[in-house]
Amino acid sequence: MSFTVAIDGPAAAGKGTISKAVAAHFGFAHLDTGLLYRAVGARVLAGAAPVAAAQALDPVDLESDDLRTPQVAQAASEVAVIPEVRAALTAFQRGFAKRSGGAVLDGRDIGTVICPDADVKLFVTASPECRAERRFQELLGKGTAVTFDSVLADVKARDARDSGRATAPLVPADDAVMLDTSELSAEQAIAAAVKIVGTARR
Ligand code: C5P
Repeated sequence: MSFTVAIDGPAAAGKGTISKAVAAHFGFAHLDTGLLYRAVGARVLAGAAPVAAAQALDPVDLESDDLRTPQVAQAASEVAVIPEVRAALTAFQRGFAKRSGGAVLDGRDIGTVICPDADVKLFVTASPECRAERRFQELLGKGTAVTFDSVLADVKARDARDSGRATAPLVPADDAVMLDTSELSAEQAIAAAVKIVGTARR
């Protein structure tokens, strides 16, 4: 039987951490849909045309190690405004959502466009400064040479592009449960999300 959990929110709000933990807790599969856009963005940086890159995307591309850089993140949010790119990635995401045994998908438009009938929807937010600080620490930990100001500017630029685009903008679904993680530790945010999903499962 399928059970779909949609987790949306802006960059670095904690969606990834929460989604992985929720999937592990309930034994569901997890798809980080940002990786699809990042894989297309990476191909475009390498010279491919966006729509052709999205149409030719192979799930193996999601395993590439170089998808987590700020350059690829910007390229991802640029290709993500193109309706044909989004359309080319829709069937894969919907198929994943309906797999038996349950699925967690995290992204920007899962609860609104990809899975409007998801069994439970979460919208995870945090202040831009808080999100930038987390992403900054994560990049420093990986040895990436960045400044806090550049990470904050990147977060704000992606927020503006993701929220302002015409197709599938970043907005909470009407029936999404809001979870602000600004004042929460990762453990507290995970516990809150597990509780919300557990309640919807009963
Ligand atoms: O979540 P992540 O930061 O990896 O996503 C990279 C970019 O991909 C986002 O800034 C957004 O523009 C795009 N994206 C999207 N829809 C999704 C997931 C990601 O437009 N479902």
